[in-house]
Amino acid sequence: PLVFVLNGPNLNLLGRRQPEIYGHETLADVERDCRALAGELGLEIAFHQSNHEGAIVDRIHEARESAAAIVINPAAYTHTSVAILDALKAFDGPVIEVHISNVHQREAFRHHSYVSLRADGVIAGCGTEGYRLALRRVASLVQSRPG
Ligand code: DQA
Repeated sequence: PLVFVLNGPNLNLLGRRQPEIYGHETLADVERDCRALAGELGLEIAFHQSNHEGAIVDRIHEARESAAAIVINPAAYTHTSVAILDALKAFDGPVIEVHISNVHQREAFRHHSYVSLRADGVIAGCGTEGYRLALRRVASLVQSRPG
């Protein structure tokens, strides 16, 4: 099964951006680790990052055609984007929301997530390991689905 791993704005700067909050691993490191785990779990992944809300919406539409599940760190769009929420509502498979930091321990504006209204699971504050935890969850959800 194919899993889309989608990343929102500023995550291209991961490892260099506020490392005290987001750590020193780059997004390329995260992608490499996700690919290694996906192989073990029998999943295929398509890994994307965009700084543009509409481009993320377009990717979610693409996922409707080809993906069994979505892992998404919508970054700042988590807290603002009805468009990403609506796109995810048009996707039928499992959706796991990931935040590298513990958003609940941070500013009040990070406590609300539009995406959580659709997400089947949310992982926050586990660092970049959160992506791998999300893939493990996706593997169990996809494998327990009929057909
Ligand atoms: C984030 C948390 C968001 O509040 C923030 O805007 C990000 C990253 C995280 O992974 O912890 O850009 O989604």
